Amino acid sequence: MFRISKTCTMKNFLAFCISLFLVPCIFGSLPFSASSDSTFDSFANCLTKNGVPSNQISQILYSPTNTSFSSVLNAYVRNQRFNTSSTKKPSIIVTPLLVQQAQAAIICTKGSGLQLKIRSGGHDYEGISYVSANPFVVLDMFNLRNISVDIPSQTAWVQAGATLGEVYYRIWQKSNVFGYPAGVCPTVGVGGHISGGGYGPLLRKFGLTVDNVVDAQIIDVNGNVLDRKGMGEDVFWAIRGGGGASFGVVLAYKINLVPVPSIVTVFSIQRTEAQNATNILVKWQSIAATIDNNLFIRVLVQPVTVSGKKAIRLTFNALYQGNSNSLMTLMNSQFPELGLKSSDCQQMSWIQSMVFWANFKKSSPTPEALLSRTPDSVNFLKRKSDYVVTPIPKDGFTAIFNKMVQLGKVGLVFNPYGGKMSQIAESDAPFPHRTGVLYKIQYSVNWDSADPNLTTQYLQEARDLYTFMTPYVSSNPRQAFLNYRDLDIGTNDNGPNSYSEGQVYGVKYFKGNFDRLVKVKTAVDPQNFFRNEQSIPVLPS
Ligand SMILES: Cc1cc2nc3c(=O)[nH]c(=O)nc-3n(C[C@H](O)[C@H](O)[C@H](O)COP(=O)(O)OP(=O)(O)OC[C@H]3O[C@@H](n4cnc5c(N)ncnc54)[C@H](O)[C@@H]3O)c2cc1C
Ligand SMILES: *[C@@H]1O[C@H](CO)[C@@H](O)[C@H](O)[C@H]1NC(C)=O
Ligand SMILES: *[C@@H]1O[C@H](CO)[C@@H](O)[C@H](O)[C@H]1NC(C)=O
Ligand SMILES: *[C@@H]1O[C@H](CO)[C@@H](O)[C@H](O)[C@H]1NC(C)=O
Ligand SMILES: *[C@@H]1O[C@H](CO)[C@@H](O)[C@H](O)[C@H]1NC(C)=O
Ligand SMILES: *[C@@H]1O[C@H](CO)[C@@H](O)[C@H](O)[C@H]1NC(C)=O
Repeated sequence: MFRISKTCTMKNFLAFCISLFLVPCIFGSLPFSASSDSTFDSFANCLTKNGVPSNQISQILYSPTNTSFSSVLNAYVRNQRFNTSSTKKPSIIVTPLLVQQAQAAIICTKGSGLQLKIRSGGHDYEGISYVSANPFVVLDMFNLRNISVDIPSQTAWVQAGATLGEVYYRIWQKSNVFGYPAGVCPTVGVGGHISGGGYGPLLRKFGLTVDNVVDAQIIDVNGNVLDRKGMGEDVFWAIRGGGGASFGVVLAYKINLVPVPSIVTVFSIQRTEAQNATNILVKWQSIAATIDNNLFIRVLVQPVTVSGKKAIRLTFNALYQGNSNSLMTLMNSQFPELGLKSSDCQQMSWIQSMVFWANFKKSSPTPEALLSRTPDSVNFLKRKSDYVVTPIPKDGFTAIFNKMVQLGKVGLVFNPYGGKMSQIAESDAPFPHRTGVLYKIQYSVNWDSADPNLTTQYLQEARDLYTFMTPYVSSNPRQAFLNYRDLDIGTNDNGPNSYSEGQVYGVKYFKGNFDRLVKVKTAVDPQNFFRNEQSIPVLPS
């Protein structure tokens, strides 16, 4: 193990500044430690001491002076807000090809005094897998992405660096009557998605990703690889929704496949106020969480410009696990107000429905599109979340729509719960939003300009709408979804051990499960090595 001496770092830093770029060192955005060569050398020495041969080190270790440093860092940036010259950059990136290299990287990060950030797919909405206020290392898991599907046991092992699209595709290659209940964006990574409690259009029938996880492999704070038996039931519980990055590095999950029919039906239809949108939404709210579990109807509520005037438009996107005729029968009896027609319905295989949900810009994409690791576009993003437990009255929707039109840009996405979600106890996994939740709201604003004034404006719009929504959503605590990471609801500022700061966001994400997470954390990582802006704090000793 090694330590970087402070004087050495400072001396190199100054020498580097003076000899090369005096101005950028002081005013620019170079990484924290411009002594990156010595940081690199120390890290490389440590990896060597921990059994990684030098020919391997030269393939997996980057410092800011490596020519490919920026492209490796940017390859999994999924929010342009964190791709600016002022965004803090890591001192080291490690991209292990082998599990043993990841083990050594953990031990060497511990010895370096740098903070560890773990990245799988890079979709964290606040970029906390690859940005930090402290000098840090990015452990980038994208190379560890094997998927092995076993149809006889109806299970699969999926490594953390795999994407959801790859998981769906590999299942489909072996069988068209199995699927997996996870998110709709194919480039999302398994490591963050499952450890944060992912969901998608199968949730009302099969629950969350973590309700269908049966084993896992992690590397703990001492660099040991542990499976479910080795880590114990408490840690296994914690990494099913409590966020992996507080407890260790997730290497892989073993998931249970779920049966899907060979034909499913999807639709996407829009309604404006001229088409009775508000009344339709009131009716949606009364049936969406109780209707047949085979049906998931998401609603996008968006301010749009219609003939020069801002107005609200609703988009109903649905997956039905059955054919179009039985969907029409169900809709005619329980939700005729939507006015769904057979011609709105498209029958397809489950894998093709995941292509539909991915909303690719090119026309008629095939399942192979799910294998692309490059998103169609990477925007500037802000997300927030809420849970609705009491129906919003019609005049409430009217007021919300007016507010959204006045703000102009922020949209809301309503995702119905109920079904399987109400049958699982709140303490079964860290994710607590179960019985009694009608639907989850995602606040969503995307833009494509780096103008910092626009960033300020859109962040403020999202926050204003969130404040406006207070009377309509859950309270005490105002619940939030971990995978819709939102640093507005509290951070521990990377403080070493702040239980009280952690509690602020912790009870919103985990309700009563927060205290159990803190106990698990304190038992397995008392020094708080695995920490980030919203990690689980250690109990004060
Ligand atoms: C376009 C888009 C669409 C989305 N759609 C959905 C959706 O349909 N359903 C849904 O539930 N969510 C959705 N999300 C949210 C997504 O599930 C979360 O952002 C998720 O955490 C991303 O995982 P990742 O590995 O890609 O992210 P990363 O940014 O790599 O990681 C996210 C967090 O997990 C930690 N982490 C990552 N890998 C590991 C690991 N191997 N071990 C320990 N900790 C780790 C990171 O340190 C970070 O704290 C979407 C996000 C985006 C950007
Ligand atoms: C980074 O740069 C060092 C020093 O030039 C080199 O040895 C190493 O191979 C580079 N790393 C990668 C992954 O290319
Ligand atoms: C980050 O910004 C650079 C420079 O503007 C751009 O070339 C690159 O494509 C961006 N990265 C991502 C992931 O969008
Ligand atoms: C991935 O799978 C291949 C083929 O089975 C195997 O050789 C390799 O060791 C695996 N990689 C990891 C990191 O598990
Ligand atoms: C609008 O919806 C309401 C309530 O569902 C219904 O009574 C009314 O007939 C609808 N109006 C139109 C024009 O469809
Ligand atoms: C941003 O706002 C400031 C203060 O209002 C203004 O001076 C500046 O010109 C704006 N920048 C851009 C790029 O519009």
